[in-house]
Amino acid sequence: MTHFARKDLVGLADLDPDEIAHILDVADQFRDLNLRPIKKVPTLRGKSVVHLFLEPSTRTRTSFDIAAKRLSADTFSISGSSSSATKGETLLDTARNLAAMHPDILVVRHRRAGAPRMLSEALPNTAIVNAGDGACEHPTQGLLDLLTVRRRLGGFAGRTVTIVGDIKHSRVARSAIHGFSKLGAEVRVCGPATLIPPGIEALGCTAYGRLEPAVRGADVLMMLRIQQERLHLGSHYFPTLREYSRLFGINREKLRRWAKRDVVIMHPGPINRGVELEPEVADGEWSVILDQVENGVAVRMAVLYLVLGGRRTAASEGRA
Ligand code: CP
Repeated sequence: MTHFARKDLVGLADLDPDEIAHILDVADQFRDLNLRPIKKVPTLRGKSVVHLFLEPSTRTRTSFDIAAKRLSADTFSISGSSSSATKGETLLDTARNLAAMHPDILVVRHRRAGAPRMLSEALPNTAIVNAGDGACEHPTQGLLDLLTVRRRLGGFAGRTVTIVGDIKHSRVARSAIHGFSKLGAEVRVCGPATLIPPGIEALGCTAYGRLEPAVRGADVLMMLRIQQERLHLGSHYFPTLREYSRLFGINREKLRRWAKRDVVIMHPGPINRGVELEPEVADGEWSVILDQVENGVAVRMAVLYLVLGGRRTAASEGRA
């Protein structure tokens, strides 16, 4: 029996705990494939995946591309600077034109919150997978964060996850809050009052304005990037990066004084070293940052597989 019967993956807010757990189970199986000498299976042979990335990306874009290729799908990549968006074409027109070429999946990153949901409604015959929309959601990042914690800690019940930093502009934080709280963890968010949006607690978390009480007792610290491209630094949010780092950055000394000895340090990347994380922590024994990246490929393989029905196709079995 499949536990995932959706055409699209737009956000973790839409999913129930069983669906999330099922994606993680499938991803765990794909992890093994990524460790084999031959990292390719015919599961999505004959399928095509278009990556439409209208915002920059290193990890997500490469990870989706590797995931699709390891499943034998054909992949096509379009970036903002190389698309006709630069000539004024709307996102909907771009997507309708791409859909007319009959891809099976459109993976979309867009700076506007809600763009993937709009496409999921407008394109009934194309699966839409959200690779990050504005400050709304980044569901595959949330899933890879969940997989990383599940593999490290064994589960979520009785665990506390603290998310630190720019909660206001973070799609990573929103997907993490939905995912960890649905699977039974306690979720805390922490940052300057200016970067904690009013009403965030309605998503199922507790807000903290100081780092020490948010760190004490936490099993996981998820440090977020200060998003300099969205913040217009020097204006409204905090006095200086140095001040932010003093109050909300994590270094070895703060971990020694406040954190559990075996606390797990996560970061979605890219890291501002010396701002939210000192290199001694980012590269230290607490860090699972590269495990997150590794698990991202398996999660994206699982998502691509499941939105196409989670079945081996006739072509993949060599019977087409
Ligand atoms: N974590 C993440 O979304 O990184 P990229 O922006 O490099 O894809």
